[in-house]
Formats: sequence, structure tokens, C-alpha cells
Amino acid sequence: MQIGKKIIRLESVDSTNNYIANLIKEGNLNHGTVILADEQFAGRGQRDAKWLAKPGENLTFSFFLENVNLSVNHQFYLNCIVALALVKMLRKFNLDASIKWPNDIYIQKRKIAGILIENQLTSGMLKNSIIGIGLNVNQTEFDGINATSLLLETEVRRTPMNVLYSFIETFNTHSKHFSEKKWTETKAIYLENLFQLNETCAYEDQTGPFEGVIRDVLDSGRLLVERNGILKDYDLKEIKFML
Ligand code: BTN
Repeated sequence: MQIGKKIIRLESVDSTNNYIANLIKEGNLNHGTVILADEQFAGRGQRDAKWLAKPGENLTFSFFLENVNLSVNHQFYLNCIVALALVKMLRKFNLDASIKWPNDIYIQKRKIAGILIENQLTSGMLKNSIIGIGLNVNQTEFDGINATSLLLETEVRRTPMNVLYSFIETFNTHSKHFSEKKWTETKAIYLENLFQLNETCAYEDQTGPFEGVIRDVLDSGRLLVERNGILKDYDLKEIKFML
């Protein structure tokens, strides 16, 4: 699971996730390679959203994991590992980061980083994985988006490259013992760091707004929310956090 032996820095690209997908097609990519871009002109987020980041001010990168030995049912495990690595890295900067389900990284109620994982599967197993991360580093204005950055939170300007090195170091330390058998342990740590766990908060689903309490995340990655004493599980598109 070690990453970052090779780092390729691009001035401008559509999306670092797309760039990796193309290199995989060409058969021209080693496990752990990191692609970093100063600018993405078609950066992609979850739920088909765009990922907008001011060129040169932020960290936008992807890395490639080959032969991730994980069953399809446990794909969510990889989300947890990546999200926890980001939280642990932000803690090193003295920030109280948490994971807004499924894998947004928040500082209090503002988003500082997002993760887009794209998996290639073969016969029930996860084969290749492209992990894309966008982390706000020096951007201070977000045009109406509820976001924050390392600069806003710590008042220290950092180069995106140095932040990348911190991430690689943290990821390599914490993913060393990556194995499906450790799922229970990893999930427990994920829950410890989950935003709004066991708190009564406002959400919205297809029935409208409601007050509920996040109680758990299932192995499939679905979110378990209690509402009036009844538990219901949700997919990403089925529930909205009202922040
Ligand atoms: C999200 O929170 O919606 C996920 C955002 C993921 C953005 C990163 S930036 C690097 C990589 N390339 C992309 O096009 N997207 C991811």
C-alpha cells in the first residue's frame, strides 16, 4: 500500500483521476504513483459534481493502487483508510478534523477536503483503485460554498507540495497493515471520527426535512440514521445534511 515513490507534477490537466485512468489503459503505471496538478480544468467531485479549486492555491492529486486485495462488499473500507489518513494528517497541523459521511473532511462545519475513489473490479474483487483528493490549502474565498482551507484555519501559508508530502507520509504509516481482517478495528476508528455521530441534527430525505441521529455506518458504507426510534439506512444520494 506504500505510495509516493514516484510523483508526477502537471501544470494543467482535465482531472488527475482521468489522467491516471488513461495511464492504466496504456498499461503504463506503477502501483503508488501520485499525479499532482497545479490546475484542473475539469476537476470532478462526488455525485457528478464539479471540483473547483483555484489554480496554484490548492492540493489536487490522485494516486493509483494496484491489486487492492479487497472484496467488492468491502470497498467502503478503502474510503475509511483514505479519510482517516487525511484526518490524521490534519491533526498534525493541530486541526480538529472529522469525517462527514461518507468521506468529506470537515473542520467544524466547513469542508476542507474531498475524496473521489474510482474502482475497477474483477470477479468480485477490487483490482485497481484511483484515489483522488482535493484539499484546500491557501484559498480563502469560496463563492458561497461552505468551505475552509489550511490557511484560513491555521493562518500559515503552505506549499501544496509540502502538504502532499505530509499526506504521503501519514498514509504510508497508517495503511501499512492494510488488510480486510482489520475492518472492525478500522471501522471503529472511522466512527470515532465521524461528524455528528450520536448527535441530534437536521437532515433531509425524500420525505422532507427531519431531525435524526447518526448511529452507525454499515459494512456496505450505508449510513444508519435513527428517527423517532426507528433506524433507516441511506445511500449517498438519499440523504442530505442540513448544515
Ligand atoms: C468531493 O468531495 O466531491 C470529491 C472531490 C475530489 C476532488 C479531487 S481533486 C483531484 C482528483 N481529480 C478529480 O477530478 N477529482 C479528484
